[in-house]
Formats: sequence, structure tokens, C-alpha cells
Amino acid sequence: MTAKHLIIAIDGPAGAGKSTLAARLANRFGLLNLETGAMYRAFALAALEKRVPLDESVDLERLMTSTVIRLQPDAGGNRVLLDGRDVTERIRQQDVTEAASRVSVHPPIRRWMVAMQRKLGEAGGVVMEGRDIGTEVFPSADVKIFLDASPATRGERRHQQLGPSQETEQAAILRGIEERDARDRTRVQSPLRPASDAVVIDSTNLSMEEVVARAEALITARLAAR
Ligand code: DC
Repeated sequence: MTAKHLIIAIDGPAGAGKSTLAARLANRFGLLNLETGAMYRAFALAALEKRVPLDESVDLERLMTSTVIRLQPDAGGNRVLLDGRDVTERIRQQDVTEAASRVSVHPPIRRWMVAMQRKLGEAGGVVMEGRDIGTEVFPSADVKIFLDASPATRGERRHQQLGPSQETEQAAILRGIEERDARDRTRVQSPLRPASDAVVIDSTNLSMEEVVARAEALITARLAAR
């Protein structure tokens, strides 16, 4: 087996380092890096812009039928197009982060996303990152990693990532992470949890280099086993 056909699933809560890990693995093994969270974010932005209530499943479902979301992987990550418009930077803002967490609990929205994500990844040669990749999108992925870290560590990392330009206090970031975690883990449809055959990596006390090394070893072993 060559890396060209691999499907690597990376799941875990916000701020655990999934995006960095996915980008590093994509680079190392020549894989396409697909950030599924960006798709939920793009849909959340559509709902915000069209003033569709984030908790109204029926209204969101109607919006879904007229919304086109595209992920364009490139060297620096994913460009995200919402109805043809590049929203890559906009979807990282706090209002979209909060809205994405809310729209992603609705089963019809999840089914739509999962179907799109399967199409994007089915040819293989991908690292796909999200919350339900190993459990729902690709239950037969070749390698499944569940990347975790304590909420305090994730809050601190997010705070550093945002930098001084964003006047968000660390305590507020931690609160936001905990709220979104709770929503992710308790939703009815495909809640965030490690797949039974996922390798859980707790990065609380690991550097990103150590996390990458462990993940690379898993992939190399999988390739050698074929
Ligand atoms: O990974 P992220 O922060 O960009 O994800 C944004 C939101 O989308 C997050 O609140 C959880 C949700 N999400 C999801 O439910 N399933 C996925 N596969 C990816 C993201």
C-alpha cells in the first residue's frame, strides 16, 4: 500500500492541535489535508448572514438546500468557498466559531456534511480532520487518531494562537472551549468520542514534535503492514 490510498482520520476537541498535526502529516506523506470544521463554519456563516436562527433545524435545512460549500486544499491549508465567495479568513472569527458549534448539532446538517466529506475523501490520499471522521465519515479509515489535551492546556494554546491583537481573556477562551466541548460530546448525532479502534494521543504534556512523531510512526507501521 502506498500513502496515495491512505485515509487518515484525526478527531478530537477544539484546541488539541489537530490542524497543525494534519498539516504536518499531509506534508510528510503527500496527502490532501481536509479540514471538515471549516465546512461547518462556512455553513454557520451562511446562517448568520441570512439571519437564520441557529437552533431551528427546519429553517437550517431549507438554507442547506440553497448553500454550496467548497473546500480547496492548498499548500497553506484549506481555502473555503461559500456560494463561490472566499470566506477562509472570515470563518475564523469568534461569532462564526460560536455559531458553528450550534449548527453542527442538527442531524440533517450533519448528514449533509458527512455525505460531502465522504465524496471528498473516498479516493484516498487524505488526512481528514474533525470530530466524527473515525466514527462516522470514514469508520474504516486506515489510521485513526484521537488527539486530546486537558481543557486548561487547550485554552492556553488557543490564547497564545490568538495573540495580543484579540482582546480575549484566557478565562473567557476556556469557558468557550468548555461550552463547545459539552455541545460536541452530548449531541445526539455522532457525538465527539474516540472510535473504538482509534489511538488516543493525549498531548497535554507533549510537544507538537512528539505528537507528530507518534502519528508518523503509526502511519509508517500501517503502510509497512500492507
Ligand atoms: O474544528 P473547528 O473548530 O473548525 O470546528 C468548528 C465546529 O464544527 C465545532 O464546533 C465542531 C463542529 N465540527 C463537527 O461537529 N464535526 C466535524 N467533523 C468538524 C467540526
